[in-house]
Amino acid sequence: MLGLQVHTHARQQKYEIRIGRGLLTSVGANARRGFGSQAQRVVLVSNRKVFEIYGPTVIRSIEASGFTVWPWLIGDGERHKSMRTVEGILRLLAENRLDRNDGVIALGGGVVGDVAGFVAATYLRGISVIQIPTTLLAQIDSAVGGKTGVNLPAGKNLVGAFHQPRAVIIDIETLATLPSRELVAGWCESVKQGAVASRKLFKQTTQFLARVKAGDAFICSQLEDLIAAHCAFKASIVAADEREDGSRSDRRSRRILNFGHTIAHALEVVTAYRRFRHGEAVGYGVLVAAELSKHLGLLPSPELELLRHSVRLCGPLPLAGDLDAAEIAAAIARDKKSNRGQVQWVLLRRIGRPLIVDGKEISARLLQKTLRTVLGLR
Ligand SMILES: NC(=O)c1ccc[n+]([C@@H]2O[C@H](COP(=O)([O-])OP(=O)(O)OC[C@H]3O[C@@H](n4cnc5c(N)ncnc54)[C@H](O)[C@@H]3O)[C@@H](O)[C@H]2O)c1
Ligand SMILES: [Zn+2]
Repeated sequence: MLGLQVHTHARQQKYEIRIGRGLLTSVGANARRGFGSQAQRVVLVSNRKVFEIYGPTVIRSIEASGFTVWPWLIGDGERHKSMRTVEGILRLLAENRLDRNDGVIALGGGVVGDVAGFVAATYLRGISVIQIPTTLLAQIDSAVGGKTGVNLPAGKNLVGAFHQPRAVIIDIETLATLPSRELVAGWCESVKQGAVASRKLFKQTTQFLARVKAGDAFICSQLEDLIAAHCAFKASIVAADEREDGSRSDRRSRRILNFGHTIAHALEVVTAYRRFRHGEAVGYGVLVAAELSKHLGLLPSPELELLRHSVRLCGPLPLAGDLDAAEIAAAIARDKKSNRGQVQWVLLRRIGRPLIVDGKEISARLLQKTLRTVLGLR
């Protein structure tokens, strides 16, 4: 098992990320440490699919540590990341009189984590939360960093709060039951993260993907190492820019994590969120942003080739050839990350050297040409 200490700047708190196998049996002990000796009540937020597989183990462990636990299962899928879902959980907390000493535990992917985190951030103006991410995306990305929130009909993640967890427990064995598309999506996010982090993390990620592809069975300890390296990177970015300061555009600002996301969000919008898993759209987004970086004279060709190779190793992406370049470009222009009329792009000078620019450098012609090439548009 690996352990990482994460220091959060804003409140001078620290918390632990535990990464290993079979950790679900020790959730109770971690909850006792994370919530403190005064805590008595816990609400465990999950969904049916995840709870059926892992819920009983987690509940047993929590109860064995002296807590009373109420499970609450939310619907599966992004559309349940809503205020309605949040209200249901808040009512459960209030009806069972959870107080400031008590806590919330999230067992599931990013949807469960974002919802449960937001409930914990707002109930009694904030109680403790422990994240147990069970998707690859949540393990390397969403469970670390303290961003919580839900969607509104007008758009994704429009309501939220920054609320750091008391602990993150990553049991890599939960990935064994993850559908393969969810794994592909997570791998695409890991390539994105490696590309903006450093040559070392990028290489570690790509080498691991190559071994997975070759069917190497002895990879558990390497997977622990890889996830730990991703968490450490994400935590380091968050520690230096916890609230994503919009005025920052340096290469360690939290905004660099949006590499590939300008395109990804547009692809999700033009397909009404039905075709791509978010991470799959990020896979295409990474390719487009890298190609643009090369066209603008930033990224050398061999590095573009390395990125293409890594994205290919992630697995198959849904076809995108029938989409319309002008429609994608229009969706980019409307992106919520738009800032004073300028689209924010994260480009690459090199692997590990991100650059935040406004959209001026990228002409409509160049964008549409690149989209056509990368997505195979007709
Ligand atoms: N807070 C952040 O910083 C942050 C960062 C990135 C993404 N997100 C959010 O995360 C969400 C996406 O998260 P996600 O990709 O984990 O999707 P998800 O939570 O919808 O999970 C994907 C699917 O996998 C299933 N599942 C989860 N764990 C499983 C397991 N171990 N075995 C079998 N099935 C399992 C889920 O039930 C679901 O059907 C989005 O809402 C996104 O906005 C948040
Ligand atoms: Zn993402």
